[in-house]
Amino acid sequence: MQRNIGVLISGRGSNLQAIIDAIGDGRLDARIALVISNRPDAYGLERARQAGIETLVRDHKAWPSREAYEAVLVEDLRARNVQLVCLAGFMRLLGATFVDAFPTRILNIHPALLPSFPGLHAQRQALEHGVKFSGATVHVVDTNLDAGPIVMQAVVPVFTDDTEDSLSARILAEEHRIYPEAIQRVLDREWRIDGRRLVFG
Ligand code: GRF
Repeated sequence: MQRNIGVLISGRGSNLQAIIDAIGDGRLDARIALVISNRPDAYGLERARQAGIETLVRDHKAWPSREAYEAVLVEDLRARNVQLVCLAGFMRLLGATFVDAFPTRILNIHPALLPSFPGLHAQRQALEHGVKFSGATVHVVDTNLDAGPIVMQAVVPVFTDDTEDSLSARILAEEHRIYPEAIQRVLDREWRIDGRRLVFG
């Protein structure tokens, strides 16, 4: 079976790097067929180029509507036979045009234990709420923000002297560990979605 994945980014691309590294050292049996960024200055593009991966800049501002923009992304990914799309810091909410083109075949990583603290600044939200534990979540993407079935989570403690930066760093280390592992699991195993739950067979 082909195991082509596409990665969508908007920024520094450290999760993309974690996926590249996991493929490099054999923890993840897949091939990144394409990296797309909606921002031309995303550092993740440089990481992809250094790894010899094809990149595209698709600046959403150049398209008249979300539908038109997403249709182009779908075309780009399909043209490279991408079976699984991984969002890695991609800062655009995806609508039905994109999600319906890859049903239950889009993953995202979020820096909190969903369903707590969806959206922007999840680490700040966790600190302000006073939770004692937070973490990272890999989930299937649907058209709601940070809301689809959960594939994998990792927990980190929150310390009283944590800042947004220190908590983010602790969570990011877990993101880098679980994202490649979750991708491998989704590619390797039989699974189905039962209500809100993702159930491995
Ligand atoms: C990560 O914290 C990820 O969970 C969130 O955006 C950030 C992206 O970081 N969705 P990077 O670009 O992968 O370094």
